[in-house]
Amino acid sequence: MSLKNQLTFWSVGLLTLIALLAGSISYLLGQKGAGLFLDHQLRLVAGSVDEGSQLPAMQKKYLAEDQQKKEYGFVIQVGMANEPVRSSRPDFNLPLASASGYSEQFYHGEKWRAYTLVYPERTVQVSQSDAVRRDIASDAALFAALPIAGLLPLSWILVLIGVGRILKPLADVTMAVTLRDASSLAPIPGKNIPAEAAPLITEINSLLLRIQESIESRRNFVMDAAHELRTPLTALQLQIDNLAQSRSPEDMEVRIAELRFGMQRASHIVAQLLRMARYEASEHTSARARVDLGSVMKHCISSIIPVADKSGIDLGMVCDEEAEILANDDDLRILFGNLLDNAVRYTQSGGRIDVAIEVKGQMVSVSIVDNGPGIPEEMLPRVFDRFFRVQGHQVEGSGIGLALVQAIAKRESAELSLKNREDGRGLQATVTFKLFVNRDADGTQNDRVTKASF
Ligand SMILES: Nc1ncnc2c1ncn2[C@@H]1O[C@H](COP(=O)(O)OP(=O)(O)OP(=O)(O)O)[C@@H](O)[C@H]1O
Ligand SMILES: [Mg+2]
Repeated sequence: MSLKNQLTFWSVGLLTLIALLAGSISYLLGQKGAGLFLDHQLRLVAGSVDEGSQLPAMQKKYLAEDQQKKEYGFVIQVGMANEPVRSSRPDFNLPLASASGYSEQFYHGEKWRAYTLVYPERTVQVSQSDAVRRDIASDAALFAALPIAGLLPLSWILVLIGVGRILKPLADVTMAVTLRDASSLAPIPGKNIPAEAAPLITEINSLLLRIQESIESRRNFVMDAAHELRTPLTALQLQIDNLAQSRSPEDMEVRIAELRFGMQRASHIVAQLLRMARYEASEHTSARARVDLGSVMKHCISSIIPVADKSGIDLGMVCDEEAEILANDDDLRILFGNLLDNAVRYTQSGGRIDVAIEVKGQMVSVSIVDNGPGIPEEMLPRVFDRFFRVQGHQVEGSGIGLALVQAIAKRESAELSLKNREDGRGLQATVTFKLFVNRDADGTQNDRVTKASF
């Protein structure tokens, strides 16, 4: 059921109910008031009657009146001691009450209301047919209730107009959304929107903004990826051309080596792009579990150690405590894998890389320190941008690694810092996680300290 119909239904229903109640109360009060007024009239008339001098004239007048006036008029009776009771209406012999005041009596099967005044020498009684009194009271009551009944349809019309006006801004928004282009992500205009509906419009607009940002970021990613792949593919094309023109077996071997290197570079970029795409696709699905940082790091180091050995780099790890965190195992491997890969690739042969896992209170920090060239200070804030690479060194890369590292650290609520070593001889990457604290049923903290080195 629409809001408009509900509002109209309830407003019209309540107004009708109130009008019915008000009409009935007015009718009853009108009836009561008319009764009191008629009683008052009976008393006034009784008070104005003398020994009955006006009765003969009244009888004559009565006989000349039409039927309705005959029925509606008062009947005046005067009784004197030792005389028959005289009346303003011929043949009307309602017994006179013995005491002053109001009374109700039946006369010829009809109910009468009378007011009697008892004087020492005479009794005056003025009466009126109860049916006539009820007729008059009903008419008066009807007049009291009629305006309410008459105003009821007007109130319905006002409710319809009012509801229409209140809901107009919402109808305008609906129309604006219906008429808009299917691909439009522009904010919904929220002008004059009722306060109750405003948060909904704000939420929808912020959702539209997020969708727009997400579409834009995906579009940029695809464009950047295509751009990044173009360079190695052009290089591959050139290398193939060169290979075709090689003149001697030695020349051919050199060019094949170049081609192999170019292929490696292209497939590295594709692999990094795939990692990034997979990471983004799993944004809402990656499960978290208790992970031992030492074990994950050992696994990452064993994957990279052949490369480090080849370059004569001394890669070592110190893990002074067992450090468990709540995280996604695969994400952690990508994070540490990229940091280690950078350290190994950018450090010159014979260099040194130290990995340390340190628990400090409720936190655990993992640091990877190398003695490579470091990153120029002014470039440090930019190395987390996708496809950004520091120019001037021979090492090939796609510039995705640190962007991925930063995104994973954010998702895992870890703090990531990248800075040049204070002695100016290399780079220090530190990732700080919140430690997973295992509490026993009795609430005591279960800390087990082990020493391990790699
Ligand atoms: N340990 C490091 N020492 C010196 N420079 C580094 C180090 N780590 C990163 N950098 C610099 O930061 C840049 C960005 O690193 P990032 O890992 O994002 O990309 P990449 O290594 O070039 O490519 P990818 O990791 O995707 O293969 C690198 O090009 C490099 O110049
Ligand atoms: Mg890298």
